[in-house]
Amino acid sequence: MIEQKWRVRVIAAISLLAPAIALAAPEKTQPRGELLYQNHCIACHTEQVHWREQRLAKDWQGLLHQVRRWQTNTGLRWDDEDIRAVAQYLNSRYYRFPSSGDSRTASKDAASK
Ligand code: HEC
Repeated sequence: MIEQKWRVRVIAAISLLAPAIALAAPEKTQPRGELLYQNHCIACHTEQVHWREQRLAKDWQGLLHQVRRWQTNTGLRWDDEDIRAVAQYLNSRYYRFPSSGDSRTASKDAASK
């Protein structure tokens, strides 16, 4: 039966493609901070901005401050959640300051500004 054979092939093809389709949708799996950074910030940043010797961010609070400064510079009006998400992304990627995962630290920073 020719139709039956085709149905099996179509189902096989779909099940082979499904994982590829899932991988091809990065905006679903990409963390918010990474997405925001790549959309708004990476244009004039090379990785060297965050690696350089004389970097401005010297600890987690300093990093939050720089992210806050830059989203203001770029006129983005991010809220504290966004600022923290981007700082967390940069911290996990480049800086590795302690206590970045602590949301109390971040909101304390927000409250004191
Ligand atoms: C117009 C170009 C430009 C854009 C857009 C930009 N930056 Fe920057 N950024 C720079 C330059 C140049 C520096 C280094 C000099 C300075 O800090 O003033 C820098 C430095 C920084 C630093 C400090 C790095 C360190 O440790 O010394 C952080 C953090 C940062 N940017 C975050 C951001 C974020 C977050 C955004 C997006 C909201 C952003 N930047 C958008 C040009 C840019």
